[in-house]
Amino acid sequence: MPKKFHMGWFMNFIPPEWDTDLASPDVALWPNGDFYVDMAQSMERAGFDLIMIEDTVMVADAYGGTMEGALKHSAFAPKHDPLPLAVKLIANTSKMGVVATMSTSFYPPYLLARACSTVDSIAEGRFGWNIVSSAEDRAAQNFGLAGLPEHDERYNVAQEYFEVVTRLWDSWDADAVVMDRSTHTYADFTKVRTIDFEGQYFTSRGPLNTVPSPQLRPTFLQAGASPKGRAFASGAADAIIAVGTGVEGMKEYRDDIRRRAADIGRNPDDIKLLFVVSPTVGATAADARAEVDRVLNHPSYIEKSLVNLSSNTEIDFRQFDLDEPLPEGLTTNGERGSLEHFLRGDGTPGKKTLRELVMQRAKRGLELVGTPAQVAQHLADAMEEVGGDGFLISKPGWDLSRNYITSICDGLMPELQRMGLVRTEYTKSTLRETLREF
Ligand SMILES: Cc1cc2nc3c(=O)[nH]c(=O)nc-3n(C[C@H](O)[C@H](O)[C@H](O)COP(=O)(O)O)c2cc1C
Repeated sequence: MPKKFHMGWFMNFIPPEWDTDLASPDVALWPNGDFYVDMAQSMERAGFDLIMIEDTVMVADAYGGTMEGALKHSAFAPKHDPLPLAVKLIANTSKMGVVATMSTSFYPPYLLARACSTVDSIAEGRFGWNIVSSAEDRAAQNFGLAGLPEHDERYNVAQEYFEVVTRLWDSWDADAVVMDRSTHTYADFTKVRTIDFEGQYFTSRGPLNTVPSPQLRPTFLQAGASPKGRAFASGAADAIIAVGTGVEGMKEYRDDIRRRAADIGRNPDDIKLLFVVSPTVGATAADARAEVDRVLNHPSYIEKSLVNLSSNTEIDFRQFDLDEPLPEGLTTNGERGSLEHFLRGDGTPGKKTLRELVMQRAKRGLELVGTPAQVAQHLADAMEEVGGDGFLISKPGWDLSRNYITSICDGLMPELQRMGLVRTEYTKSTLRETLREF
């Protein structure tokens, strides 16, 4: 039997594909969340482990110093709050995990711990938190700060934040609710305690005022790729959102995380590396190629990609000539992993122009274009070489269409199931157990 791997989807609560002939007739209604409910139900039918909703909290203006690009191309603006959408998805599915992104830089720890506990109870244990520290000064300015702390310092804050919220989730013993009618006692007060946390960045008295949720703590996802990010993720995460350049880069990333986990006494098998991939499948290989061309040749594709990249890295990519290589030494206080990944391109030797790098970005490290059988085999080969643990789908060009969702859920996934590589049923009740099943 081949080793099974996990499948998730990395998406955002943004307008789906609206500016093409494949736009859904109800696309203008996306803010009501129903488009994404349809998506989650298709995913659950297809055996996905989880859907993960990304988030940032600002309208970017890094590209050319204006909001025009972001708003014109709906390049992550608008973007709606993932947590209420997560609750709606949870209410309309019954098995699949649902993960929302919330930032340690902006949510007060008590509010976040309480929200996660409440939602995990509503989800009966299927909820996850994608831990991010945010990467944009523009977001910080929406919360009364002049800017974000320096990159590594953000991780120091996140580390302490993680400790406070964990202590809050642990402030009730799992068996604190007794609901004992003979003594007329709902909760045993000896099993609920203050945490009296006083750290460098946070203080919190506690206890939490929610009952322990089915998972006690939400399932933790994290995406740090820098050395500091990897150190944090290997200590905290149940699953890591990973971007690798080719199979070698993926293997290096996974081996490094597993080594770091073992070094601090964690079982490496408890951390699943989920690699972001952007496959395109079609009835024939030529159909799939034509679909890639359709996405890449959209008049907004290049500028929209650069607006997105500028917003994650706060580098103004409009200042550079599209047909020249980028200057040496670009650095960011934003998403370092994302910048490095972009600059590496598809890993082939030689200096690339900015235009070439943008086109290669759509491949997300592995070029996956073909029939469902061809792409499934490619994924299988990559996983075998890397060693595990799974993939996160992200649509090339971002904006989702029902067409694309169907091609993955009713094309690629059944093929992977036939090959025995992904789940065909859900046997566990919580997301953490689902991820640890294999
Ligand atoms: C695939 C991927 C998804 C991410 N999703 C989010 C997100 O939803 N919100 C956010 O603020 N940051 C997100 N990030 C940023 C990471 O959480 C992290 O802050 C960033 O990569 C900087 O960490 P690093 O420098 O250690 O790579 C994402 C990063 C990657 C690579």
